[in-house]
Amino acid sequence: MQINTSSLQSQPRIVYAIFLLVTLTPLYYVSYQYHLRHPYGSSSPLDRPAHPASPQFIRDWLDTHVVSPFNPYALEWYCNQSDWRPGLVFNLANANGGIGNIRGNMLDFLFQSIEAGASILLPGMASRSDEDLSNVWASRSPFDHFFDEEWFLKTVQKACPEMSVYKPQPDQPLKEAVPGVFYPRSRRADTDFGNSKRAYLEGLQTFLDEHGQVEPDNVTLVDLERTLWEIDTRSLPLNFRRDFGQLLRINPTIRRLAAVVVQQLSLKFGVDIDPRIAIPRGAFYGAHLRTESDAQNAGWLDETNANFSAQTDSYIAQALNHKLKVIYVASGNATDLALFRRKALSHAPPLNVTSKFDLLPPNEAAALKDMTWDQQALVDYEVLQRCSIFGGLAKSSFSYNIAMTRNQWLEDQGRVNDPWMVQHSEDGVSFDDGISRVLARDGVHEQRIPRGMWP
Ligand SMILES: *[C@@H]1O[C@H](CO)[C@@H](O)[C@H](O)[C@H]1NC(C)=O
Ligand SMILES: *[C@@H]1O[C@H](CO)[C@@H](O)[C@H](O)[C@H]1NC(C)=O
Ligand SMILES: *[C@@H]1O[C@H](CO)[C@@H](O)[C@H](O)[C@H]1NC(C)=O
Ligand SMILES: *[C@@H]1O[C@H](CO)[C@@H](O)[C@H](O)[C@H]1NC(C)=O
Ligand SMILES: *[C@@H]1O[C@H](CO)[C@@H](O)[C@H](O)[C@H]1NC(C)=O
Repeated sequence: MQINTSSLQSQPRIVYAIFLLVTLTPLYYVSYQYHLRHPYGSSSPLDRPAHPASPQFIRDWLDTHVVSPFNPYALEWYCNQSDWRPGLVFNLANANGGIGNIRGNMLDFLFQSIEAGASILLPGMASRSDEDLSNVWASRSPFDHFFDEEWFLKTVQKACPEMSVYKPQPDQPLKEAVPGVFYPRSRRADTDFGNSKRAYLEGLQTFLDEHGQVEPDNVTLVDLERTLWEIDTRSLPLNFRRDFGQLLRINPTIRRLAAVVVQQLSLKFGVDIDPRIAIPRGAFYGAHLRTESDAQNAGWLDETNANFSAQTDSYIAQALNHKLKVIYVASGNATDLALFRRKALSHAPPLNVTSKFDLLPPNEAAALKDMTWDQQALVDYEVLQRCSIFGGLAKSSFSYNIAMTRNQWLEDQGRVNDPWMVQHSEDGVSFDDGISRVLARDGVHEQRIPRGMWP
């Protein structure tokens, strides 16, 4: 077809306007619809989720995070407020425990370093004995034992360029720290109005005056005592609180095993899961069955709603409430896991109970077996964060951390509620926000975690 341009050119302006409108409107509409369906430029060319058997499923799952997108702006702004002191380097001497505690220790430490304008030694951690789970001091492990080192270094470098992160090499002698250990003053203004940034910095200055001077061209290394949930995170800018915890992502090798677990769960039980959705509806229930020997030794299971039968009753009831047929269980106790499986199968209606070692193919299962007890738990940590509905135990900072991170996701969706209201309406329940329920009560956690834990 030939277009007669000369006749077009001779049309009055109003005709052009209509012509443009008629041409552009469908284009605009199509593009609008496309962007509605692909908000951030999805990695998949089609709107459909990747087939669970495809490698794209794994990639999409790994590209998705619960608190997302990560926005470093508030962190950059906060770092900009510090007086950076070249030469002052902090060392976290003794982070310890499982992921819930170590994550808390490290985030408090990073916050304290930022406020002091100090650089840091890349923190490591004490690791638990595989023979005696109650002994969390058995040996030492580096940062990447749990966390994604590359992501951490890249993100700190970008958001806080004035903070240097030194990574001690095994063969490199370390400069000696100044004598003594610095106990950072709490920043929990909710327990004491005196717990301000200024009071914290004065405490540091007093320590440095007594134990060593900071000279710009010389490194002054200070050992910090670990703290746990000692920052009032809710007194900080909202976005700072939201994004700060995202500095610590789980080691990608371990995270990949979690993606494979979810993929296999989807295949084995025929559950539809869109790997691009952080917390999919109607897919599977996630339970943290916390009945291992160390929990028994600590007396945790003697309290209301904390023993094996109370935990498993509640997890089954909640799964059924939400019409979920598959329960993914995290537990370090193989005996109790088998008991739970039998209990759920003989329930009417029966439910399928599964776990990471049931689901992983032989190669991945072997890789997981080579890891330590706390590293294996990180696979559960990642899978449980992204289950449809979660159930855990208040005594466990692992459980509570999962619930708190998921609660941030809920808040990001504009669904803000008070998860602690349930303490007044039900016996033996600590937290319930509709997507996560934390059983039993724990005075210390209920006082420390709501404001002190980083999501
Ligand atoms: C931080 O400070 C620098 C230099 O003063 C400025 O260019 C930058 O925009 C600031 N960043 C934020 C996030 O405030
Ligand atoms: C650096 O500190 C060490 C002790 O930590 C001291 O012996 C040395 O003289 C200092 N160097 C300078 C240039 O101040
Ligand atoms: C597992 O739980 C049983 C009780 O059901 C207990 O006797 C055993 O010590 C626990 N084992 C581990 C490894 O936690
Ligand atoms: C387990 O806990 C429930 C609820 O707290 C309690 O009623 C029950 O007696 C406990 N069972 C055992 C065997 O201790
Ligand atoms: C799930 O449980 C049902 C019993 O309700 C059983 O028939 C089925 O085989 C189980 N599925 C798998 C994959 O184990």
